[in-house]
Amino acid sequence: MAKKIKTVFFCSSCGHESAKWLGQCPACREWNTMVEAPAPAAAAGAAYGAARSGTAAAYRKPVPLSAVEDTGEERFSTGFSELDRVLGGGAVAGSMILLGGDPGIGKSTILLQAARSMAAAGLEILYISGEESLRQIKMRAKRIGETSDRLRFLCETDLDAVTAVLQEEKPALAIIDSIQTMYSAQVQGSPGSITQIREATGILLRLAKDTAITFFLVGHVTKEGSVAGPRVLEHMVDAVLYFEGDRYASYRILRSVKNRFGSTNEIGIFEMRGSGLTQVPNPSEFFLSGRPHDAGGSVVTCSMEGTRPLLLEVQALVCRTNYGYPRRQSTGTDYNRVSLLMAVIEKRLGIPMSSFDAYINLAGGIRQTEPALDLGIVLAILSSFRNAPVDDHMIVFGEVGLSGEVRAVSMAQARVQEAHKMGFTSCVLPHSCMRRLEAPEGMRLIPVRSLAELGEVLGPAEKEKN
Ligand code: TYD
Ligand code: MG
Repeated sequence: MAKKIKTVFFCSSCGHESAKWLGQCPACREWNTMVEAPAPAAAAGAAYGAARSGTAAAYRKPVPLSAVEDTGEERFSTGFSELDRVLGGGAVAGSMILLGGDPGIGKSTILLQAARSMAAAGLEILYISGEESLRQIKMRAKRIGETSDRLRFLCETDLDAVTAVLQEEKPALAIIDSIQTMYSAQVQGSPGSITQIREATGILLRLAKDTAITFFLVGHVTKEGSVAGPRVLEHMVDAVLYFEGDRYASYRILRSVKNRFGSTNEIGIFEMRGSGLTQVPNPSEFFLSGRPHDAGGSVVTCSMEGTRPLLLEVQALVCRTNYGYPRRQSTGTDYNRVSLLMAVIEKRLGIPMSSFDAYINLAGGIRQTEPALDLGIVLAILSSFRNAPVDDHMIVFGEVGLSGEVRAVSMAQARVQEAHKMGFTSCVLPHSCMRRLEAPEGMRLIPVRSLAELGEVLGPAEKEKN
């Protein structure tokens, strides 16, 4: 009788495993993400272990920490200071870093550029591509520049061949582009299936720990369940970076969502150019470029990305609704938060927001949901509603509560300092942030306690245009 292949169900979003199909994943609450896959065979995981069992290190003995040699962590620079910062000060030797992102966002490009500069600094690097041919890689490399011979390339999707080459060559760094194309014949399931990529990552992880090769894995984020996304690997690797951004806008944000060797609050900002990615060392300037002057509905606010202040422009367009039900739309910020703020404006300031449509946009295509943006959003809405422009050299930040009170936010000093650096001369902020705050020279601080005090901040209303 033919042996029946045992299957289990995995959530393609978070990797949760279940014996039966479920409409909603009980772990991450996503709908329709369960996909059927062959159950991981014990033999597959054992394959690498078996290869090792001949060596003395087959079974390790438990040791107390005092017996562990403290060598500190060895880090190397990737050649991009933005990428180094997101990694917590460079890549840690022997670690495994997962770089996720939508297809076409620039994952291969950034890794090729980083590999190029690390090879120039003297590291032996192996770039293993399962997606592109050597000719295609060469075409990309041509746009980026000459590469050193220490950076070598291999086109391979067979994981057993890849591990054999890595064990033989022992490069300092290996790039796997992408983990979804790696396939091991010893594991059941088609290439890109959850079983395959989990096993492939497991095998590479053990290899990384044994040989001290640093790994960069590329993982495509996919919406459909046919190819498993990088989220199913997050718990296995040392650091997870996501490359985000609008494919049609030129800038990209590199965000760390997990990092065993650094903070997860850091972002790096890059711009895609004709010759690869370049760093954007001054993101505030980047996000404020092209800002309209003296226009109603445009307000500059400050949000924090980790320890980094970022000045952003909030735009609002408020116009009378033509239908019984007002339209609300928000791009780049939380829709529910915008609805809540509009309800607060209606109730606390007595403005009939329910007969107005409102569109909110964070310029530059960035996404931010920090509560410190509240006051900026409220002021942009009021400014558009009254057709009254806000002072061009003013920034606004603060959280707004349901009673219309303006509440304190963290790191007020850093936000004010960034505004000062960018040439702003006044700042509207929560009154409770004033303690321990030092105003930089030439910066006027305007503390507010509630929304009712915002009236004085707005310029005189222009004649109704609409
Ligand atoms: P790529 O790194 O191939 O994306 P991923 O590996 O994440 O799928 O990036 C592809 C996009 O980047 C493609 O649309 C072309 C663009 N690009 C540039 O604009 N300039 C360049 O120098 C390079 C190499 C790519
Ligand atoms: Mg690619």
